[in-house]
Amino acid sequence: MNEMDRRDFLKLAGMGGVVFFSGLGTLVDAIGKSAAADDFFFVQLSDTHWGFEGAQLNPDAKGTLQKAVAAVNSLTNQPDFIVFTGDLTHTTDDPQERRKRLREFKDIISQLKVKNIRLIPGEHDASLDNGAAYKEFFGETHYTFNHKGVHFITIDNVSDPRGSVGEAQLVWLGDTLKKIDKNAQIVVLTHRPLFDLYPQWDWATRDGDKVVTLLMPFKHVTVFYGHIHQEHNHFTGHIPHHAAKSSIYPLPAPGSVAKRAPIPWDPTAPYKGLGFREIDTRPKQNDCVLTEYPVTKV
Ligand SMILES: [Fe+2]
Repeated sequence: MNEMDRRDFLKLAGMGGVVFFSGLGTLVDAIGKSAAADDFFFVQLSDTHWGFEGAQLNPDAKGTLQKAVAAVNSLTNQPDFIVFTGDLTHTTDDPQERRKRLREFKDIISQLKVKNIRLIPGEHDASLDNGAAYKEFFGETHYTFNHKGVHFITIDNVSDPRGSVGEAQLVWLGDTLKKIDKNAQIVVLTHRPLFDLYPQWDWATRDGDKVVTLLMPFKHVTVFYGHIHQEHNHFTGHIPHHAAKSSIYPLPAPGSVAKRAPIPWDPTAPYKGLGFREIDTRPKQNDCVLTEYPVTKV
């Protein structure tokens, strides 16, 4: 949906008719049903890699995050909150440089109009110091919050450099889920895929199957993640997993080429493959509507 379509969608919703996408884009027509009062939108950005340098991949590496911030600020309807699903900064061996990048990232996103921002780390932020620097700036790497009846759960599968969730967090997740009704809507935010998308490229979580097993008894679960720098949709059983685009450089489709090398910048199509998404969440219908946007202003 482009912005014009989106406005039409909202107008339609406001008039009491709703057209929405369910699951992987099957058009479901529900004209005549009223939009629930507690519907809301949030925005997902991912893999901003602040501090990355490499003109072949992104000659505007020092300006793309700011453009993404401006693009989100330009949305006609502002989201309830914004999530960043990891790799906020690009990796560095230097702990002081890591902190500098985290500080600069924090400064840049402070320009977002929406101040309710939820963050999780990626392996670039956290795997070299088990999340120590990240925590100094942004606090816990796994937590829950509730928004208008929807349970959000963030899962850290990056602070362990092996790409595991780990036993302690699995226990925490199990305890957290015990308190949630099986019919409730749950949104999981994480960095790596929780399923084996392409382990040869490190596109997996070692014990992700244990997370999915814990989530399976819940009827309405949706997972949003990053890490693979492209849109990707996959089901494990009834649970959809949606990967988001990056705002620094795109990566090739899983296993489509011999090496996991980033896709070079195309001067004839700058910022191609970069973007963010809006997620319209409808608690009464237990579904999400995804809208993809470019990182440049819409
Ligand atoms: Fe990344």
